[in-house]
Amino acid sequence: MTSPISPAFIATDTDLIKGMEGVLAIFIGDEGSMDATAKRVNRLSRGSVARLIEGEGFAKLDAGKAMKLAYPVNLEAEAVIVVKLPKRPSVSEARAAGSTIAKMAGGKALNVLCGNLRRAEEVALGLALRSYAFNDHFTKEEDAPGAVSFMVNKPEEMTAAYADQAAIADGVFFTRDLTNEPANVLTTTEFAKRLVELEALGLKVKVMEEKELAKLGMGSLLCVGQGSDSPSKVVVMEWMGDKKGEKPFAFVGKGVVFDTGGISLKPAGGMEDMTMDMGGAGVVAGVMKTLASRKAKANVVGLVGLVENMPSGNAVRPGDVVTSMKGDTIEVINTDAEGRLVLADVLWYAQETYEPVGMINLATLTGAIIIGLGHENAGVFSNSDDLANSFLKAANKEEEGAWRMPMGKKYDEQLKSRVADMKNVGGRPAGSITAAQFLQRFVKPETPWCHLDIAGVASVKSETEFAPKGATGWGVRALNRLIADNYEG
Ligand code: BES
Ligand code: MN
Ligand code: ZN
Repeated sequence: MTSPISPAFIATDTDLIKGMEGVLAIFIGDEGSMDATAKRVNRLSRGSVARLIEGEGFAKLDAGKAMKLAYPVNLEAEAVIVVKLPKRPSVSEARAAGSTIAKMAGGKALNVLCGNLRRAEEVALGLALRSYAFNDHFTKEEDAPGAVSFMVNKPEEMTAAYADQAAIADGVFFTRDLTNEPANVLTTTEFAKRLVELEALGLKVKVMEEKELAKLGMGSLLCVGQGSDSPSKVVVMEWMGDKKGEKPFAFVGKGVVFDTGGISLKPAGGMEDMTMDMGGAGVVAGVMKTLASRKAKANVVGLVGLVENMPSGNAVRPGDVVTSMKGDTIEVINTDAEGRLVLADVLWYAQETYEPVGMINLATLTGAIIIGLGHENAGVFSNSDDLANSFLKAANKEEEGAWRMPMGKKYDEQLKSRVADMKNVGGRPAGSITAAQFLQRFVKPETPWCHLDIAGVASVKSETEFAPKGATGWGVRALNRLIADNYEG
């Protein structure tokens, strides 16, 4: 498990600066303005800060970017990061500054001298998110990251303001760990175990085993896992933080712990990436952790379908017909289109059990969404303009890329089967949309619903502003904000 840094917020005292070890960070505001702490560093280093910010290099920097002081003379610190940031930065600028500092400090002990800078808690969140590393499977012990302190004028206020941000960092790290974890470690059983551990935060967690799922009639979900030695499970996490007994919002996640494709076997090249095919369930788990950690005043349930898609003597075959919990029959044309089979039953169960006020599912559902939107945006499919717009607004505020895609009857017709109520693939054209149409067949018209296809954004091969290579935790922040802005209070 990877824990986020927990920064200490200490009161501003410029006398401490000279003796501070490790790395210092200071902020330069509009028109090169310095607060008392930056001035102190400038004076101790005989004006080298002033010289740096007068240079052309610094002038060209965007807000949130930084340069290092070449020689931090007269200071104990081994390096000084000089960050360009307006005194009243936007959330985005403040988080960018945190990310910049994290990258430049490289895990060394860090003193961030904020003075009266606004949004220091957002700087701290950016720093925490970008400091993530997945080191669990290296035998050589990594050096533990150095302590991080923020020197601020109002330490109590900042400590309180950071509590909600810490909950976000906790949720994002949880999602990233789950998504990065190899499939021999994160089996369906291990995944369920890690979710049960969330009970420590006050969540109610229920694990449903195959026998119970069979009794419920989840023939669609169960056929996916029937070729694997890992038992299929559905895990339900309840956070009832709104005491008024109102109907909850529901998050549903695809949790395919490994996707070989099944009998419709995937090619060998790149198959190892399918360890992240539980990314949707990972995000649901992360958001639930964030909501519980910050004691959100909202009723939210998170449901995940945990299965492994393997070929074997009892694996589901192309051509098999299965019956979903809803009662509709499905002809399995391609066993590699398994995510929708899992979600169909969990979506139906969520609606039958909770009558949710809104429902969002997340899934690494189609390779086609990567062709369409690349790694910058998740695909958003919805039966409700209101919910889609609320989500897009939340995602936009959190700078998590999301783009609405069309749906419609003509696409749905591609799912017509010769032998059953529907087939599980609609052919090559509009592959992401026909997948969404399939899901919509298991959504009641009265349920406002969004499907987020996160195949392109859940895990990426190059670093991003707030994450190293690998799992990003995309969606935890946006969904947390969606709840905060629309379903709380
Ligand atoms: N898990 C994959 C989708 C995927 C592909 C996620 C690449 C992340 C990266 C999904 O189960 C799948 O195999 N989809 C098929 C559907 C097809 C058989 C209709 C696909 O996209 O090729
Ligand atoms: Mn697949
Ligand atoms: Zn899959």
